[in-house]
Amino acid sequence: MNQSQTPLLQAVTDLIETNPAYFKVPGHRLDKGVCPHWTDRVGTAIFAYDVTETPFTDDLHSPVGAIDEAQKLLSALYGADQSFFLVNGSTCGNEAMILSAAFEGEKIMIARNAHKSAMMGLVLSGAEPVYVMPEVIEDWAIQGEITAESVRKGFEENPDCMALFLVSPSYYGVSSDLGKIAEVCHAHGALLLVDEAHGGHVYFHDKLPMGALEAGADVCVQSMHKVAGALTQSSVLHMKRHGVREAALKRIAQNLQLVQSTSPSYLLMTSLDCARYELAVNGREMMEKALNLAGYARERIHKTAGFCCMEGEGIDRTRLVISARGIGLTGYMLEKMLFEEYAVNMELSDYENVLAIVTYANEIEDMDRLIAACKDISRRCAGQSALQIMNKKNVYPSFPQLPQQIMTPRRAYFSNTETVRWQEAAGQIAGQMIAPYPPGIPVIYPGERISQEVWEYIECFRRNGRHMHGTGQDGKLDRIKVIVSDAV
Ligand SMILES: Cc1ncc(COP(=O)(O)O)c(C=O)c1O
Repeated sequence: MNQSQTPLLQAVTDLIETNPAYFKVPGHRLDKGVCPHWTDRVGTAIFAYDVTETPFTDDLHSPVGAIDEAQKLLSALYGADQSFFLVNGSTCGNEAMILSAAFEGEKIMIARNAHKSAMMGLVLSGAEPVYVMPEVIEDWAIQGEITAESVRKGFEENPDCMALFLVSPSYYGVSSDLGKIAEVCHAHGALLLVDEAHGGHVYFHDKLPMGALEAGADVCVQSMHKVAGALTQSSVLHMKRHGVREAALKRIAQNLQLVQSTSPSYLLMTSLDCARYELAVNGREMMEKALNLAGYARERIHKTAGFCCMEGEGIDRTRLVISARGIGLTGYMLEKMLFEEYAVNMELSDYENVLAIVTYANEIEDMDRLIAACKDISRRCAGQSALQIMNKKNVYPSFPQLPQQIMTPRRAYFSNTETVRWQEAAGQIAGQMIAPYPPGIPVIYPGERISQEVWEYIECFRRNGRHMHGTGQDGKLDRIKVIVSDAV
């Protein structure tokens, strides 16, 4: 297929060029009716591309024209059987995958480091989750890969699992051996569903981990807004049949309609068309640039006293996981200093590390600013033992063991709940999830008993004022929803 086309961009341009008397939605009438506070800053041209379904521009929910063509180009690029544009992020793709793969009364294996959108998919589907734990990378205190061995064990204990859902690569760029995992899943007649929100770019360079589709996944979801040039919320879902549970795959298109707007944004979809074009035409050079930039910074940050950068097999080397533990700074402190004192914006921090996502659109000046800031912080903090990281074990405990599941997330979500003081929550059954954000990985799912260990883990985040989802309107987690006893 001719990847240098951008059929949706062309279709919207063709519509605009008819200079239409416009009586459709949206109400701003192409580029005319947008608030001048906004257009004074950003100009008007882009707004003309915010249109709706017309004979030129096709219909996402029943595509037969430009969107269909654009999606087919996307499939061809990734080697998928079918691909879909998503306008509600990878969030809606994850929901649709889970919703299609397992229903109420059926089991699905879920990696415990899954994003909260997996929990939302479980609430929608009603399936019973069986969790598989990721390895822990102790040196960096982060969650690592899901091993094929743990998946095999999971299927031995739960041979009736309909699918495995996992994240690869992770936020931190750690990938799992998806080839081996796909073999295990398929041998059990189960689907491999991969949340590849952070991996839409890995297909374009041999120094990046193998892509989920190349490794044998049945379905994967990619946030093109995270790693390519698409606008925020613009993601894609790909399917590739392997003769496993094809009836479930057929449900995906229909379930995407359940979780997406009936007014999908043409700005988002056009941005997907253009991001696919860029990757198809320039993908290798784009990734080469990102890898070179990240490598340049990694090498220099490594040489900075007190700093180090994560290395290892199977990692996405465009992600920089940086620690300043050598000079006693937590990741939280480092992120704050970089932001407030150097205007260097990292993607996230945890107790040990900060994370930078390096893309083709960064420039050497960005890397030099990050490196210079690290060097300056290193110089300023050298020898300041007062800043030493507090005894970590007392401050942020390790990842907790799996809590006991009393009921499915769906049943808990729709059960009667009451709120109790957070201080009294240990031992109760959660009626909601709580997830430090980012990365948005729930520590407790609805329907699980809040163990003392889980309570203490979340309490550390609460006490230190860390941002979490599920903490109530004021974000303070004074109270939490628990299941009332007669609902159990
Ligand atoms: C691993 C993972 N999956 C899914 C999502 C949701 O993606 P989106 O923001 O595209 O909805 C995120 C968001 O950060 C994520 O980190």
